[in-house]
Amino acid sequence: MLSVALVVVGFGLLLARISKARINRTDASLQPILGAFDALGTELKSMKEQMMVKERLAALGEVSAGIIHELRNPLSVIVGYARVLHKTLEEEDPKRPLVEAILKEAETMNSIVEELRRFSKAESLKKEGFKICPILFGIRDNLDPSGERLFIPEGPDLKIYGDKTLISHALLNVIENALEVGDKVVVDLKVEALQGLQPRVVISVRDNGPGLKEEDLTKVFLPFYTTKEKGLGMGLAFAQKIVMAHGGKIEMENSPEGGCICRVSLPLY
Ligand SMILES: Nc1ncnc2c1ncn2[C@@H]1O[C@H](COP(=O)(O)OP(=O)(O)OP(=O)(O)O)[C@@H](O)[C@H]1O
Ligand SMILES: [Mg+2]
Repeated sequence: MLSVALVVVGFGLLLARISKARINRTDASLQPILGAFDALGTELKSMKEQMMVKERLAALGEVSAGIIHELRNPLSVIVGYARVLHKTLEEEDPKRPLVEAILKEAETMNSIVEELRRFSKAESLKKEGFKICPILFGIRDNLDPSGERLFIPEGPDLKIYGDKTLISHALLNVIENALEVGDKVVVDLKVEALQGLQPRVVISVRDNGPGLKEEDLTKVFLPFYTTKEKGLGMGLAFAQKIVMAHGGKIEMENSPEGGCICRVSLPLY
């Protein structure tokens, strides 16, 4: 991690020097070099952002582990006693709904603790090369069997290198969100090959929903951030964790035509 940080800082300083140097940006012979440097600059900025996200996730993992440890036992005691109490009450007893309410709330707390535990545990990746289109078609068959709302291109036949189950899960979460806010969701696939970097597959999911406020474009990836009555706010947090574990990137932006675009980039096989 430290060596990556040093490389990022080193390149950052180099780029700052180059941009300050007296270079005639209109000189045609320099255009390819300047273009490559601009691309590298953008890539370094995004690497820095990803490092910050990774650090935040690691810190969150440590804090959650402590919280989970402290909450699990008292919660199972509450559930255990409430169940015993429930058994002792007659069917018509007015206290019965109160005990049932305790049980329901304790179970909700239990599922939150369980989600937090799943989120903070390190993923072990079973990597392989696999085609991305069949995964997307599988998601469409599951979420929109009539194919009237979710549009997925027939090609290109691109392969990704990663954990197929986890990546399918991440894409399912992204597409599920898009279908929840819009009635037309379009998926787009392309290869991005920046000079000197490993080529990536970029999967864009565009919806025609209300879009997001500027300040919410990054907040949506925070665990338990939700605006939905029945949402847990873990869909995008999990998607981000999975994508980052593959050295990929996930970003949310507003589309100029309205709605959101969620862009997921992953290593090409
Ligand atoms: N395509 C989208 N357009 C607008 N807002 C979105 C979109 N995708 C996500 N969001 C916002 O981000 C929040 C977090 O999404 P996330 O998938 O993490 O959780 P959720 O959908 O609320 O719950 P769940 O845990 O069931 O997925 C959503 O509640 C919603 O406010
Ligand atoms: Mg969701």
